[in-house]
Amino acid sequence: MQAVQDFIQQNKKRYLEELFELLRIPSISADPAYKGDVERAAEYVAESLRKAGVDKVEVCPTAGNPIVYGEKFIGPDKPTVLVYGHYDVQPPDPLELWESGPFEPVVKKTELHPDGAIFARGSCDDKGQVFMHIKAVEAMLAKGSLPCNVKFMIEGEEEVGSEHLGIFCRQNAAKLACDTILISDTSILSNEHPSITVGLRGLSYVEVEVTGPNRDLHSGVYGGAVANPVNILCRMIASLQDEDNRITIPGFYDDVLELSTEERAQMNKAPFDLEHYKKDLGIAEVRGEKGYTTLERATIRPTLDVNGIWGGYTGKGAKTVLPAKAFAKISMRLVPNQHPDKITALFQKHFESIAPPSVKVKVTPHHGGEPVVTPTDTPEYQAAARAMAKAFGKQPIPTREGGSIPIVALFEEVLGVKSVLMGFGLDSDAIHSPNEHYGLFNYYKGIETIPYFYQFYADGKNGGM
Ligand code: BES
Ligand code: MN
Ligand code: MN
Repeated sequence: MQAVQDFIQQNKKRYLEELFELLRIPSISADPAYKGDVERAAEYVAESLRKAGVDKVEVCPTAGNPIVYGEKFIGPDKPTVLVYGHYDVQPPDPLELWESGPFEPVVKKTELHPDGAIFARGSCDDKGQVFMHIKAVEAMLAKGSLPCNVKFMIEGEEEVGSEHLGIFCRQNAAKLACDTILISDTSILSNEHPSITVGLRGLSYVEVEVTGPNRDLHSGVYGGAVANPVNILCRMIASLQDEDNRITIPGFYDDVLELSTEERAQMNKAPFDLEHYKKDLGIAEVRGEKGYTTLERATIRPTLDVNGIWGGYTGKGAKTVLPAKAFAKISMRLVPNQHPDKITALFQKHFESIAPPSVKVKVTPHHGGEPVVTPTDTPEYQAAARAMAKAFGKQPIPTREGGSIPIVALFEEVLGVKSVLMGFGLDSDAIHSPNEHYGLFNYYKGIETIPYFYQFYADGKNGGM
């Protein structure tokens, strides 16, 4: 193991240069204009796996973006770890808010990353974290000390709902057979406080359309006498939360699993600095569901948020118009025991019921995803905890997070195995935002931690050592 760690220390510069190459490819899955770049990113990941010594590497075409697959077989008596991640990224806009090009990676120091951080779209979510896995396995293979069988499955549609990965898993369940799934696509509490993610929220995402008159009208001639769909939509959305910031959709909380007082006390012990949180976001006060802390609101409680809203005239200057239509995209983050299809149906029924007769509404569901909880009493969690403790010199604590990785629930259903969510980002790394970055400390610490995971996992599966 020391030889592996030495190898890693000697190759750090190369690890950074090779990641930069991947970060330069704008693999934006949401925008069809980038299809060629998405394919180039898949090829680059595949080539990196081959160079690392991984066998049977293929770029598997799907009806959507390709899935990169590869495996290294060590022996029939060894446990098999499936590494999952994604090479697609979110669109970088608004572009004008980036201090350097989103696909021109540079290292800059920040308050939380005094050793420097890589600024680029995808640096943290998830190219940087995927690359840690490729480099860790490369180092272990170079030193002949990989103690597990490893399979890689790196997809290109995570940011748009993983539709074709779901189909791929069902069709290739035998090929993907494994003992556990290792994923680095989440955060740690801070570089001083390592943590392992044991819960993710689910998601129900809908788009709404409110239609009033059959055409845009003069807001002077008709204003005051005809329903304005933008005004109506705003009122309808405002009514979805009450004065305690609880969601008013009937039945919304019915299935929510409440945590016990002890569980809540435990999770609130996690180091969390509210003043720093507010300062980082430039807000004077936080806001959320009455009776819960900020940590709880952002992880174990369900939410309803408008992600985008539009209608009428939004160009330069003033145009007097009473718009015919208004639209919004709304996400609901779900917690264990809530189900996206049920919540989407409840939303639809309620939204239609609160529309006044002066407008028509249409609700269109987008992708959704089940919430996830992973146990801590599994060999994979124990191996991850020991690996993190070894690499950080500090015991990690289990934490639940607010983001979603919908495919994790499907892995459990189709492949029958639990995942271990060993991510290395920070919540403040600005994923999905302008100036996304990933700490050099985090990138290298991830590469150092992963070999320990394989070691401890193999040891644990061998009856414990
Ligand atoms: N890696 C994130 C999810 C995440 C981020 C989990 C931070 C925990 C901490 C992932 O790439 C993501 O953005 N997921 C989407 C899901 C969606 C597109 C279906 C999300 O959470 O919005
Ligand atoms: Mn991600
Ligand atoms: Mn993401």
